Amino acid sequence: MHVELNKPVVEELHRAVSEPIFNPILKTFVGEGKLDYEVYVRTSELFSLQPATDELVSSDELMFQMVHQAQEVWLKLLAHEMTELVGDLDRDALWDASARLDRIARIVRCLRDELGVLETLTPDSYQTIRQHLGNGSGQESPGYNRLHVAAQYVSDALDRLTARREVSAADVYQARDARHSDLKRTFELLLDVDEAYQMWLVTHFMLVRRTIGISRSTAALDGVPTQVLTGRMTQPLFRRLWKVREEMTASWERGGGYVPGESRHAEKGS
Ligand code: HEM
Repeated sequence: MHVELNKPVVEELHRAVSEPIFNPILKTFVGEGKLDYEVYVRTSELFSLQPATDELVSSDELMFQMVHQAQEVWLKLLAHEMTELVGDLDRDALWDASARLDRIARIVRCLRDELGVLETLTPDSYQTIRQHLGNGSGQESPGYNRLHVAAQYVSDALDRLTARREVSAADVYQARDARHSDLKRTFELLLDVDEAYQMWLVTHFMLVRRTIGISRSTAALDGVPTQVLTGRMTQPLFRRLWKVREEMTASWERGGGYVPGESRHAEKGS
């Protein structure tokens, strides 16, 4: 059975949610951009950043553009928090750094979860939106570029910190006592951030795979084959902290353990 779409109701609702609304508790109109909340959050400017409903190239476009805008805003905050983190590390304020890193990790996880919203975009819908995107590339994202600059400064601050303490990353992990436990915790929190960052890129990879596909012959808007993302998505922010794992494993020697299956109560050497 063919169901007629009740278009006037939908149009009425589109209009109703885009105009000021009377709030019975406040007994005033909300949405004119004049109330303290609206002035502080700058809601008028914020909402002027998206096309009006009748300007959308498809009903999915609002979601598509807003997720990109929201990602840029989170990335901007990340660069700010990382800049503050450099100050924390340079002051040897590792408690402050750990609180900051907790926040940073949460923001990066938020970025990743938010991309999940964009994953609801089906390929046909994206092909329509794509007509209007020019030759844009993700590499043009200001937030992504800022994040990389900030991460390099964090890496340098970490090098200065370990130099002041006269320790290497391997010393920190291999210490038999708690001498470097604050540094070790800082390293692990940075690793959490880096892991979350790479998970964001992996989710982005899956998003690209779902919408336009990943292959050597599938070209992005800037002409780059989408296959390039395969190698890039696991490029870390803090390479040194991943490298130390490889070094520790390379210098590891088998010995002193139990032979698999052997009784752990057996006398050694008997
Ligand atoms: C349907 C949505 C999306 C599609 C189809 C898509 C597609 C692509 C493709 C094909 C590339 C590789 C080629 C290039 O650099 O142009 C790329 C890179 C990139 N995209 Fe997206 N993207 C989408 C959404 C997003 C969103 C929401 C963000 C958030 C900021 C984003 C950020 C990036 C970044 C930072 C890169 C560079 C990554 C790298 O080179 O390793 N993309 N995207």
